[in-house]
Amino acid sequence: MNVLVVGSGGREHAFVDALSRSEGIGRLFAAPGNAGIASQAECLDIHVDDTAGLVAAAREHQVELVIVGPEGPLVAGLVDALRDAGIAAMGPTKAAAHIEGSKAYMKDLCRRARIPTAHSKSFNSASEAIAYCEGIETWPVVVKADGLAAGKGVTIAQTPEEAITAVRDAMLQERFGAAGARIIVEDFLEGEELSMIALVDGEAVAVLESSRDHKAAFDGDTGPNTGGMGAFSPSRLLTPRVYEQIEERVLIPTVHTMGGEGRTFTGLLYAGLMITDDGPFVLEFNARGGDPEMEVLLPRLESNALELFSAAANGRLADVEDIRWSSDHACGVVIADGDYPASNTPGKTISGLDRAAGHPGVRVYHMGTRFSGDGRRVETAGGRVLCVVGTGPDLQSARDAAYAAAAEIDFEGMRMRTDIGHRELVDQTEPSFEI
Ligand code: AMP
Ligand code: GLY
Repeated sequence: MNVLVVGSGGREHAFVDALSRSEGIGRLFAAPGNAGIASQAECLDIHVDDTAGLVAAAREHQVELVIVGPEGPLVAGLVDALRDAGIAAMGPTKAAAHIEGSKAYMKDLCRRARIPTAHSKSFNSASEAIAYCEGIETWPVVVKADGLAAGKGVTIAQTPEEAITAVRDAMLQERFGAAGARIIVEDFLEGEELSMIALVDGEAVAVLESSRDHKAAFDGDTGPNTGGMGAFSPSRLLTPRVYEQIEERVLIPTVHTMGGEGRTFTGLLYAGLMITDDGPFVLEFNARGGDPEMEVLLPRLESNALELFSAAANGRLADVEDIRWSSDHACGVVIADGDYPASNTPGKTISGLDRAAGHPGVRVYHMGTRFSGDGRRVETAGGRVLCVVGTGPDLQSARDAAYAAAAEIDFEGMRMRTDIGHRELVDQTEPSFEI
């Protein structure tokens, strides 16, 4: 089967890597891909927003399955266009991707389906939001842009002044463009974060293994929020009880509620959760696989990725056997360009890629890379540049492998967090809560 993966990040590199190992794969394409993806797939020079170009390319290359990675084309309706053209696609339609495209919709859905989430209020007017913040008694609170902001639209405000600045930035300075025209102010939840991602075929829900992302830019979970600076899988937080609650109180009701209101979900549904003393609460839903979460999940997948993705796209998940996983742990360290998430300077030559990939049990996924003009060098092309993933029998060994390989990489101004997995390694206790 010929497959096209849409996107150019580490998540898409992980998809391509898993698909290239799958029995039954024919020609594997990526659009637009990156310098790492190019070693495992044929890269097509088509932008992810070029819906007509992607549909035409899928036809031309007799692609039978398209996997859409990023939220942009999902929210823009690429899956709808592919299906209209008779091409199977793994990813939600525009209507279903709304669960990521609007936090106000997501909060409302949680209220209607009784899914645990932080209490919140949404605002279309800056002055009303500011008046509300001035009246809050318990701090911190969380201010979120309603729309897509690449993980950067969330501020944890410790004081009314910080909250008001966040409201002004989003609504008056238009820092996130139209995504900040509406904002959410919600209660701060205390606990530890967990990412649970499920493969969904419109009806059936197959929950993947657990993973955990590190969103803050700097060590010790400090600094601004990013798209994710590293991740690991599995997490000790996912006890059987937590699993049951997430499946039954979060994922299944979400899929069923969406199905009942004309937003039938297919693809990867990502629940970002806070595991609190009162159990799991939803922080966010994404209508796609997490990045860098997919980079630590897919190396552990032992089932045939092509079969799973194809079953999800074609409503056949119920026929698939249980998903098999390696008992190994995986730890991924993101190597970013100096100022990320503030800014980045593309075009810096990257060295040490082959040496890093040569370490046993290590995979180097490219997140933001390209070839130099003469095609001889690999250079940076984004804020997050690489995700170096180590595997091993426990988190410590997976993490050691990732950092040893990451030390081989060099480019001007590179930066990484040095503490991926720190809380999990320090605190080995499982969550305990009574409900
Ligand atoms: P989101 O994009 O909504 O997942 O928010 C990004 C990050 O902000 C999350 O991964 C959390 O680290 C943090 N966050 C979001 N909402 C809350 C909340 N209600 N309480 C505490 N932390 C939060
Ligand atoms: N790593 C978080 C996300 O993909 O949204």
